[in-house]
Amino acid sequence: MKILIVGLPGSGKTTQIDKIAQEYGLIPVRMGNILRDLASKGGKMGERVKSIMASGELVDDETVAELIKVEAAKIGDNFIMEGYPRTMEQVKLFDPGFDKVFYLGVPIEVVKDRMKGRGRSDDSGAAIEKRVQVQMEDMEDILSFYKNVLVKIDGTGTIEEVFKSIEDNLQ
Ligand code: AP5
Repeated sequence: MKILIVGLPGSGKTTQIDKIAQEYGLIPVRMGNILRDLASKGGKMGERVKSIMASGELVDDETVAELIKVEAAKIGDNFIMEGYPRTMEQVKLFDPGFDKVFYLGVPIEVVKDRMKGRGRSDDSGAAIEKRVQVQMEDMEDILSFYKNVLVKIDGTGTIEEVFKSIEDNLQ
């Protein structure tokens, strides 16, 4: 099964992916982690990605689509992904063909508070604002594109409550 979890930054995608992957034996794929790995390797490409991520802007569509295409070719058909696609251009470049898409709905003020409490390197005030603004831009189009396999989840409950809602819709 190919599953996608979508939501604003701080909505709990990573938290839920880890739990679902463990419970259902799916391979977790996180676009943010793939990019952080690339950034940590340095070089011209790594430095470019690092500075884009620090600003809260999106890395260019061609780069992320190519990275995820390579990853998808390695892992087969049982995975749970987050962070890709984030733009309609990315969908056009490479659509993994998800069987199910979960959207975690969490109000903007709540996601901002959650990220402030986390302390990742791109969790500074300005980068958080930018990330939320940039990632809201294509959200409606992405949700509309996947409407036939979309399940909207209330992401404001506890981690366990959100997990239960996802599980209820996995069968
Ligand atoms: P990425 O790493 O994907 O970050 P993000 O989408 O901004 O999402 P986050 O990881 O911040 O949040 P999350 O939803 O996973 O929440 P989490 O579970 O951690 O992307 C980073 C950057 O990479 C982007 O800005 C961009 O530059 C680049 N990038 C990535 N993908 C790209 C793409 N496709 N195209 C171009 N560029 C791309 O939870 C947050 C906090 O809340 C945690 O502390 C957690 O413990 C807590 N929490 C979680 N759930 C709950 C709950 N139910 N109740 C209370 N607290 C909770």
